[in-house]
Amino acid sequence: MDNQYQENFENKLEADINIEPKDWMPDAYRKNLIRQIGQHAHSEVIGMLPEANWLTRAPTLRRKAILLAKIQDEAGHGLYLYSAAETLGCSRQDIYQKMLDGKMKYSSIFNYPTLNWADVGVIGWLVDGAAIVNQVALCRASYGPYARAMVKICKEESFHQRQGYEAVTVLANGTPQQQAMLQDAINRFWWPVLMMFGPNDSDSPHSAQSMAWKIKRFSNDELRQKFVDNTVPQVEALGMTIPDPDLQWDESIGHYRFGEIDWEEFYQVIKGEGICNYERVEAKRKAWEDGAWVREGAMAYSQKQQAIQAA
Ligand code: ACO
Repeated sequence: MDNQYQENFENKLEADINIEPKDWMPDAYRKNLIRQIGQHAHSEVIGMLPEANWLTRAPTLRRKAILLAKIQDEAGHGLYLYSAAETLGCSRQDIYQKMLDGKMKYSSIFNYPTLNWADVGVIGWLVDGAAIVNQVALCRASYGPYARAMVKICKEESFHQRQGYEAVTVLANGTPQQQAMLQDAINRFWWPVLMMFGPNDSDSPHSAQSMAWKIKRFSNDELRQKFVDNTVPQVEALGMTIPDPDLQWDESIGHYRFGEIDWEEFYQVIKGEGICNYERVEAKRKAWEDGAWVREGAMAYSQKQQAIQAA
């Protein structure tokens, strides 16, 4: 009987028909999706913190309103993704607790500090820009609820990317101090952004299986290359430079070649030893604990309403 289910599952993958929550799926497929979607959800909500650091110091009311809206969008993305993960049978509370306990990861990029205002523009432009390259591919992931969540998220990320580019354009055309601030932000974020795509394909334990299951449609290295090819002309248009002496256009392959990523730094960050790992997780733990009275109140209210209705 299981063979029949397995065959149906594989036929669907072959025909590019989405797998839906009530469909049979192999346990390993389910577990892998909970891992990836859960990490993705955690990244969205942890990702609110570095930008929130600048909310009270945004240079104008307009920038502050935009930043506030963007951070709220990220919370919404987290909610879509936690809901998508729940359709696989896990509990949101359980995977959130695993993140707080260091048993589930979130994106390495959010463990770097935001030191100046230009960092906020660079996060919108480069971090959300990298996220889009990765997530457009996920709009065709084989698991229906994940793929559908990605469509809406990509539309919003695309707006975030454009507002980030607009913000950095103002700095690039500003005073020498503003230009220096932008260059400093690019210098600090460039390599961590390239790390967002994950280890090289040869060192990526999940890639082969995730590609076979059509969760991933492109490999980590393919997406990283696409991002570099898209972004170098944008950096040049701003009159800025990329902190990579090995970066050069290779006419023979039609791509930019770039230097080696510091993988030691990457593994340190994902092990929990990056500059801000402790601070990020503690901020979330505090918010969760401080919010206990709200959850208790909401639960008591809902029980009261149910009792009234039942009476
Ligand atoms: N940050 C933290 N952990 C990472 C990163 C990263 N940038 N890249 C890879 N890893 C982890 C993987 O989660 C995996 O760890 P695990 O086995 O403990 O789960 C390990 O490193 C090995 O990596 P891969 O085998 O390449 O893992 P995977 O196939 O999951 O590919 C990738 C990694 C590309 C990040 C994939 O999970 C993905 O596409 N996720 C969805 C997108 C996402 O999460 N984006 C978050 C940032 S964007 C944003 O929030 C705005």
